[in-house]
Amino acid sequence: MVNGSRVAIIGAGSVGASIAFALLLQKISSEILLVDIVAETVEGQVLDLSDANFISSTQVRSGSFQEAGQCDIVVITAGAKQKSGESRVELIERNYKILDYVIGSMKPLNPNIILLIVANPVDILTRIAQKLSGLPENQVFGSGTFLDSARLRLKLASVLGIAENAIHSYVLGEHGDSQIIAWSFAHVGGKRLLDFPEVQNLDKEAVAKEIASKAYKIIELKGATYFGIAGCVSTLVQCIVLNQKHVRPLSTYIKEYDCVFSMPVVLGSQGIEKVIDVSLSEEEKNKLRCSASTLKSICAKYI
Ligand code: LAC
Repeated sequence: MVNGSRVAIIGAGSVGASIAFALLLQKISSEILLVDIVAETVEGQVLDLSDANFISSTQVRSGSFQEAGQCDIVVITAGAKQKSGESRVELIERNYKILDYVIGSMKPLNPNIILLIVANPVDILTRIAQKLSGLPENQVFGSGTFLDSARLRLKLASVLGIAENAIHSYVLGEHGDSQIIAWSFAHVGGKRLLDFPEVQNLDKEAVAKEIASKAYKIIELKGATYFGIAGCVSTLVQCIVLNQKHVRPLSTYIKEYDCVFSMPVVLGSQGIEKVIDVSLSEEEKNKLRCSASTLKSICAKYI
């Protein structure tokens, strides 16, 4: 996919443009198409991004929904963003309509296309996108709790004094208020995180709250979050383009809970290749069951 891989980004707001910029720095796709219903926004972002073209061979240009439908990977960021104090789930009414329009306008879809959903509420929108697109489920997934897991690893790295990428810990479930930290199987170098004295002394509920509310804090301070999610999404696109098969927590259909939310998956050029069947404690599973039933009941209104 590397040579000539084409990536489209739907939604040219701060999230879409930051993803385009991060992808441009990575130099892994030949062309990035920015698509938005507001022509002036796309034109402005393309002109601005083109000033950074000299650092990369990637061309950024504006594109149509129909062209996006023929790309290799489409990243969907279009949608209303959270206002201060508003939860992600509260965006569903507005963002369902936008997603319906976006997918309808991209059809007919390249049968091998990968749809990466970023707009919120990402778990519910991913389930809806799977249904609306008619594509195989492995090709339609969401950025899920990859960002929350990065936030957690950043926190634990500072507590333990160990590099983030050596800390195998995941936030799972909803990319939202009902997410859980899977402490039970988190480890560093094969040693359970729960066996580290620094972690034993941590107020784990406070950590969970801090991670789950980090987006709220950023939104309160600067109105929106975009660099963190752009970093996450650009590495996901790289993983697909280079068939790297990394394990990432992403929104996908999980049979055990009969809903779409995040579990660790193997990501490659075909999209999601495998869901890792992790061993969770009964308490963690119960929390996930509650979360799943809420998400499912919201999804049921739309599909
Ligand atoms: C956040 C947005 C992407 O958590 O939901 O920053």
